[in-house]
Parts: sequence; structure tokens; C-alpha cells
Amino acid sequence: MVSGGGMQVLLLGAGGREHALAWKIAQSPLLAALTVLPGSDGMALLPKTHCVPGNAADTAAVLSLAAQIKPDLVVIGPEAPLAAGVSDALRDAGYNVAAPSQAAARLESSKIFSKSFMTSHGIPTADFAIAVTPEDAAQKIALWDVEGAGIVVKADGLAAGKGVVVTHDRAEAIATVDAFMRDPACSVKSDMLLLEEKITGREVSAFALCDGHGFVTIGYACDYKRVNDGDLGPNTGGMGGYAPENWPSTAARTFIEDHIFARVVEGMAAAGTPYCGFLFAGLMIDGDDVNVIEFNTRFGDPEAQILLPMIEDDLLPLLLAAAEGTLEGQNPPQLKSGSAVHVVMTSEGYPETFGTGMRLGEEISLPAEMLAGGSNDNALLFIAGARKDGDTWQNTGGRVLGITATGSNVAEAREKAYAALHRIHFTGAHWRSDIGR
Ligand code: AMP
Ligand code: GLY
Repeated sequence: MVSGGGMQVLLLGAGGREHALAWKIAQSPLLAALTVLPGSDGMALLPKTHCVPGNAADTAAVLSLAAQIKPDLVVIGPEAPLAAGVSDALRDAGYNVAAPSQAAARLESSKIFSKSFMTSHGIPTADFAIAVTPEDAAQKIALWDVEGAGIVVKADGLAAGKGVVVTHDRAEAIATVDAFMRDPACSVKSDMLLLEEKITGREVSAFALCDGHGFVTIGYACDYKRVNDGDLGPNTGGMGGYAPENWPSTAARTFIEDHIFARVVEGMAAAGTPYCGFLFAGLMIDGDDVNVIEFNTRFGDPEAQILLPMIEDDLLPLLLAAAEGTLEGQNPPQLKSGSAVHVVMTSEGYPETFGTGMRLGEEISLPAEMLAGGSNDNALLFIAGARKDGDTWQNTGGRVLGITATGSNVAEAREKAYAALHRIHFTGAHWRSDIGR
């Protein structure tokens, strides 16, 4: 039920992805007010938007805020509230929630559940074996063509991007097993491992919005995970990305809808854990051959900052339909033609792989008009790890901010994004210069 004066929307999350979601939702003529827990000083500048401090993964805090604002719709950005059961508690209390339940979120939170689900529902994915002890893993690796075919060693469970090693080196594979299963000093800990066939091709993130029994496709984006140009350096949460032009092919897109998104939605409904909200399929595409690398149960970050600015239509009716289970018959959102490019600026030291710490608290010089209402004609600025102290901005996290520009092709979008980025300065700022090249 949407009240007469427009919709009250509650958004959970604080990062660049949530800033992009808030920016998009705030443009809706159907919106009365958007409340974000905890939001950011960037989101607070959006029209009809206010931010409330607190922890989005604290069920009691979220329920208490929801009781005050009585949202017509709750949108959840990050995975932590899903794993904590926040979406279930909200749904049990009668709210419309555009996000998966804790049980459905196992598609991301357990890699073994996810692989088993794919196998039993005919969703194409790399062959794999499960290892339950280090000895079991060692025996399986001894029989594996590691040098020729390569091997992927994956920790079960959420590991903040650090739980995957792809290698052709047998000693490294064994050392990874030891680190993940035995080494108390290793940040990744896992009782069970996945050993996977290494697959090759071009990677893309594919997104759908699901309502428990159906879905609409949102779009495709390519993300850059390594910290430095040329895909060098440690893995990060994502350094930027672009919307590919005329790729994947029409045939591949049809395959993805019929053999991946539809099968997830049908399989999860059949299992009694219907899937609702954004579904993120990390894909490897080689010619017409499509395989799923992983599912995430949320919009991507930075993919949301790439795709949301490309959506022409109001997203709020689709988000509400996803939450209410009424997506059937709705058209997927219309995307702008051309492309979008997003470039992330990070703090010095990110991603802190060697425990060296990050250079935080630096003053950021940024053109005020870039944040006025969240946009200008050339580029959008999304805040991730930064806060406003009086009139000055400071960096507070690894990924500090990101710039998105759209254009008639990747090259034009890229030029506009970098031109805007070069107007922003802070000590220690780092970015990749090869996004979309
Ligand atoms: P994940 O954490 O599952 O997204 O894996 C991180 C990265 O490891 C992916 O983005 C891929 O680049 C790579 N990767 C994961 N699984 C495979 C695989 N089976 N074959 C090749 N590369 C993989
Ligand atoms: N960009 C990858 C992610 O959101 O996990």
C-alpha cells in the first residue's frame, strides 16, 4: 500500500552503491521521503533524503526506525544486513522489502551451497570438488592437473574478496589450503574448501531484479578488481568499471536469462526460499559459452554506480513490484544507449593487504557543484568513504569516492569521467588510469 502523499522509502547502507541507489530513488516523482540508515554526508545532500546514524545490520535498530517512519518500501544495499536476518525481521513485521531473505542469501554467503544449487538446477558453472579436511584437499590436488589446467582454491563463506586463489602452481595450491584451513594468522578461515576447474574468458557482472517468482534484467557491467593499472596488485572491492557496448551478444543474453536468472528464481522458489531483490551473477563468457563464477545477493559495488545512471525509467515502481511480488508483466528498465564509465578514488594504502594501514583524515578538495543535488551534466560524484566536517571533506575509508559519466560510447564516457576526477584532490589519492580502455 502506498499512502496518498507519496512513498516513504527506507534504504540501508552507507557506501557508493547506496549513494547511487539513493540518487536514483530520490529522483522518483512517487517519492515522499527517503530515509537512509546510516547513509553518508553525500546522500544527505540529495533532495527529499535524510540520513539516520546507526548500524544497518542491527535488527532491533532497523525495526525501531521502521516503526517510526512506516516505510512503504525497504531497500537493502549491502550483504551484512541480509546475513544478520534484517530482511526477514522486516518482512515478518509486514514491510515490503526489496532484498533476499537470510536463507536465500546463502547463494552468496556459502559458496558450497551456491555450487550445489547450480549443479542441481542445471546452471552452467566450473566443475568442482569439495574438500572437508586439509588431507582431503591434498589428496584431491594430487590427482589434479594443476600445472596444465590450473586450479581455483576457494574458502566457503564470506571472505571479503580474499578467499579465492587461482593458480597453476601446485605448491601455491597446497599452501593456500594450509593457510585457509590451518593458519590462525590467515584472515580467511574455512572448515570446507572448494577446488574448482579454472575457466577462461571475459568476465562480466549481470544483474536482475527478482520478486520471488519472476525477474527483470537490469544490465551488464565490467568491474576492475585489482588495485593497479594493467590488473596488477592485490584484489580490491572494485576500482571502477564500465557498461560494455554490444556485448554480451543477444544470444548470450537470452541464454543468461533462460538458463541462469530464470533457473535461480524457479529453483529458489521450489526450495521454499523465494529469491527477492537484486541478483548479481558473476559470469565468465567465452564465445557463446557462459559460466557462472559466483552469485552475489545484492547489487554490485561499483556496478550499481555504473548501471543506475544508465537507467532512464523511474526505478521505484520496479523496486516496489519486486518487494510485493508483482513484477510479472513489467518491462525491464530502459537503459540509455552508449555506455557509462565509473572510476574510484581510494586512500593511500588501500586495500591494506600487508597491514600497513591507510592514510585517512586528509582534506579532500572537490568542486561543491558536483555534490549539489548529486549531479551535473558531465559527471556524477558518489561518496563511499568520506565525511563532511564543517565545510571540508575528509577521507574515512579505503574507497573514498567514485565518478560516473555516461556517453555515446565507452571512450566518450571515459574521457568525461577522468576530466571530472582530475578536479578532485587529496593527499595520497589513488585511482586506476585504465578503466574502460
Ligand atoms: P569470487 O570471489 O568467486 O568472485 O572469485 C574472485 C575472482 O576469482 C573472480 O572474479 C575470477 O576472476 C576468479 N575466479 C573465480 N573462480 C574462477 C574459476 N573457476 N576460473 C577462473 N577464475 C575464477
Ligand atoms: N564489484 C563486485 C562486488 O560488488 O562484489
